[in-house]
Amino acid sequence: MGEGSKVCVTGGSGYIGSWLINKLLAKGYTVHATLRDLKNESKVGLLKSLPHAEGKLVLFEADIYNPTQFDPAIQGCEYVFHVATPLAHEPGSSQQYKDTTEAAVAGTKSIAMSCVRSGTVKRLIYTASVVSAAPLKEDGSDFKDVMDETCWTPLHDSLYLHDPFYKDYIFSKTTSEKHVLSYGNDENGGGLEVVTLPCGLVGGDTLLSTPSTRTVCIAQIVQNERAYKSLKFLEGLLGKIPLVHIDDVCDAHIFCMETPSITGRFLCASSYISLQEMANHYALYYPEFTVKQENEDGERKDIKWSSTKLCEKGFVYKYDAKMILDDCIKCARRMGEL
Ligand SMILES: NC(=O)c1ccc[n+]([C@@H]2O[C@H](COP(=O)([O-])OP(=O)(O)OC[C@H]3O[C@@H](n4cnc5c(N)ncnc54)[C@H](OP(=O)(O)O)[C@@H]3O)[C@@H](O)[C@H]2O)c1
Repeated sequence: MGEGSKVCVTGGSGYIGSWLINKLLAKGYTVHATLRDLKNESKVGLLKSLPHAEGKLVLFEADIYNPTQFDPAIQGCEYVFHVATPLAHEPGSSQQYKDTTEAAVAGTKSIAMSCVRSGTVKRLIYTASVVSAAPLKEDGSDFKDVMDETCWTPLHDSLYLHDPFYKDYIFSKTTSEKHVLSYGNDENGGGLEVVTLPCGLVGGDTLLSTPSTRTVCIAQIVQNERAYKSLKFLEGLLGKIPLVHIDDVCDAHIFCMETPSITGRFLCASSYISLQEMANHYALYYPEFTVKQENEDGERKDIKWSSTKLCEKGFVYKYDAKMILDDCIKCARRMGEL
């Protein structure tokens, strides 16, 4: 299907990036992938060893802190998937940017402008996060009744003071997504089509040998405090946890490329479940593990997931919550983590 088409994937050696490249190559696309360090043998080796990589996968070195480095990778491509995001800001590492938000927004702007200048890029698809779509009221005091594409996380410093890492991530993903979408109107983007996919917590299998968010999905049984804190944080911000399988995430990205007419914002998650429901699943199907559970005081508001935009366009999710969690466990067992 992709025979003859050239596409660019930023952040090609990450959890989502590597799975996406594998799928694109299998479909016959020529892929320009970026990573920060072409001397990193394990990352480069993994990508080069993917089936069909030979002659179809071209690697480029590019860092968001030097965003014009992405230009050669984008040049000549029809579609660009902007997957990379800076996750940690080394203090003093950059004279230009004070935190990940400034760097991510500058990177996003530069990549969008490069798409426009290229004369070849038709559509830019941005891997956004549901942390930009919290169903919170503007002052953060309470939840709305539903979560859908109209929700935008309120960005008040005071709401996230307890954890600078999460604050940076929320600000960086929300501000970047708004900037990307602004290139979808003719005034800024000169005809560039823009799709953003705020994805839920991604689980399932992996091509990498390192931990990723699939570890967060099983934090209640692996007794990993940092991962467990991330789960709690997501439930606190979003009411429940939107979950999506790595295979569905990458299929959704490709769907948004191959569908002839599609622009705008599409939440991407196949299920929306509470920590309690996740714990119940593990207790029922995996009684061999001790499941970490905390009894919450008071009633929780029952927020409804009412995003249907992607499915209305014709996308079909293949994995429900049970399949996602089961695949996380299967993968962790294969990797010797359980
Ligand atoms: N996993 C999830 O649950 C989830 C959910 C929603 C949205 N997302 C979004 O999906 C994207 C990929 O996430 P992931 O889970 O695949 O994370 P990941 O495995 O940590 O991958 C992050 C990628 O970003 C790249 N990167 C980091 N700092 C960079 C910089 N300064 N310049 C250029 N590239 C940089 C990394 O490149 P190197 O390999 O070169 O270090 C890596 O390829 C992110 O935009 C994330 O916000 C993820």
